[in-house]
Amino acid sequence: MKVTSAELTISCARVDQFPKGPFPEIALSGRSNVGKSSFINKLLGRKGLARTSQQPGKTQTLNYYWINDRFHFVDVPGYGYAKVSKTERAAWGKVMEAYFQEREQLRAVVQLIDARHKPTQDDVMMYDWLKHHELPVIVIGTKIDKLPKGKWKQQEKVIREELQLEEEDQIIVFSSETGHNKEKAWSAIRSALNV
Ligand code: GTP
Ligand code: MG
Repeated sequence: MKVTSAELTISCARVDQFPKGPFPEIALSGRSNVGKSSFINKLLGRKGLARTSQQPGKTQTLNYYWINDRFHFVDVPGYGYAKVSKTERAAWGKVMEAYFQEREQLRAVVQLIDARHKPTQDDVMMYDWLKHHELPVIVIGTKIDKLPKGKWKQQEKVIREELQLEEEDQIIVFSSETGHNKEKAWSAIRSALNV
């Protein structure tokens, strides 16, 4: 996919700030530090566009990126970050629920799972919740560059089993370091966007 333009348009902390236009969007979901912002940067070929950090909890608002004058990527704050207070977590839950449940522009959710480990309980819960709301989910196994190639297939199987993916559901292993499977990820996203 050729990216001709990409810019951060708005950071939303509340539901009433979501853009009103009809444009389709793809949201990134996954635990803190799994590589959501890095995934966006790699796909767009724009290194510092989405802010990344070794410290989890970097993305705190829903950040809207406007791509090719056609659609949005939405970088969503990660879950499962231990240092977040109970009150903050509850507030996060409310905004997320409203977003994933009611957002008509949302075409698919890219669910990122750290490919080195078994999916966490939060990962399984999130995936089930998205499926329950009948949202198309694209599962991406991140940081695959950190795993020896000989283990890729086995780890794919572990993620499949833990999330109970159906036969026809795709899982794409991915690396923001090397760009492995970048085009495959784009093709899943394009097909969800119908472009
Ligand atoms: P939050 O915004 O806190 O929810 O995190 P995030 O999911 O946006 O993660 P982010 O993209 O900021 O990446 C977290 C850390 O993991 C950074 O240090 C990245 O450089 C690193 N990282 C992300 N993707 C990859 C990958 O594919 N391979 C390797 N080796 N490191 C990665
Ligand atoms: Mg982030």
